[in-house]
Amino acid sequence: MKVTVIGAGNVGATVAYVLAQKGIVNDIVLIDVLEGVPQGKALDMYQSAAVERYDTRIVGTNAYADTKDSDIIVMTAGKPRKPGMSREDLLDVNIAIVKDAVGKAAKLSPKAIIIVVSNPLDAMCYGALKISGFPAQRVFGMAGILDTARFRCFLSSALNVSMKDISAIVLGGHGDTMVPLAGQTLIGGVPLTSLLAKDKIDAIVERTRNGGAELVKLMGTSAWYAPAAAAVEMVESIVLDQKRVLPCAAWLTGEYGHKDLYMGVPTILGRGGAEKILEIPLSAEEKAMFDASAAKVLGTVKDTQARM
Ligand code: NAI
Ligand code: 2OP
Repeated sequence: MKVTVIGAGNVGATVAYVLAQKGIVNDIVLIDVLEGVPQGKALDMYQSAAVERYDTRIVGTNAYADTKDSDIIVMTAGKPRKPGMSREDLLDVNIAIVKDAVGKAAKLSPKAIIIVVSNPLDAMCYGALKISGFPAQRVFGMAGILDTARFRCFLSSALNVSMKDISAIVLGGHGDTMVPLAGQTLIGGVPLTSLLAKDKIDAIVERTRNGGAELVKLMGTSAWYAPAAAAVEMVESIVLDQKRVLPCAAWLTGEYGHKDLYMGVPTILGRGGAEKILEIPLSAEEKAMFDASAAKVLGTVKDTQARM
């Protein structure tokens, strides 16, 4: 198995490092436009293999020829947010990067599965789908695992329980219209709504929606540890054909009453890529939030179409 990670910045390099440590793929290629940076980071990581005792080979490069015949491409190249910016503010610059990078990589690896991370996520998935010409089952995005991880993290702190026992999901677009399903969240089988007062749940939902911005404000750039862990969880489910049900930005063809756009929904991930979307029965209030999120995503898709 060969995995190409496009973008050797904070997210891309961390994806490569975390994935290598799992020892589940033979080759990782880290590619970036910066000369020396992917080569240096890859060499540094590869030297850690002697200590950490994994066998994955890691190569850094500026040449797309080295990515040929990849099984999976993780697209992380692109500008991150600075304080005060929305993810949509990145559209112009990042769609140009997606066109360039995904266009080149997809030609050399026509059977690959593409996992998009670059923001604005749902629109960049659309761009990658159109540029690659791949079926939608092989082009999807990482955001829902991250948003759900933040929700579970904040709930764990509020309730003083292990994150492992929090069963939750955040649906919708990767932005402030995302839809954390608080009413369907279970803590070791117990409904969240019976354990925490509504005002406290509402505050956690709001903090989740602003989870990315909270970190941008603290660090001056966006997050990478949890995003990389989330992307690697997706890669692992595909490589090992685990059929994990993970919230991914998947191409809707009528599910949840929407089509022709990417939205965060529970998706079965296996060797075929996004093998199936599962539909959660939503309350009227949850459906209204999902519809509002879809309307926002459709706006960015239109902006993306105008730039393709
Ligand atoms: P970064 O600035 O640390 O790294 C981006 C890398 O992309 C840089 O090394 C840059 O040289 C490279 N790059 C730029 N143009 C390129 C091209 N044409 N080909 C190859 N490489 C190119 O940024 P970071 O923090 O790694 O974030 C990357 C992207 O991921 C951003 O758009 C960010 O918003 C997004 N992101 C998305 C998340 C999600 O949940 N979907 C979570 C975290 C970040
Ligand atoms: C995040 O939510 C940057 O979209 C990324 O952290």
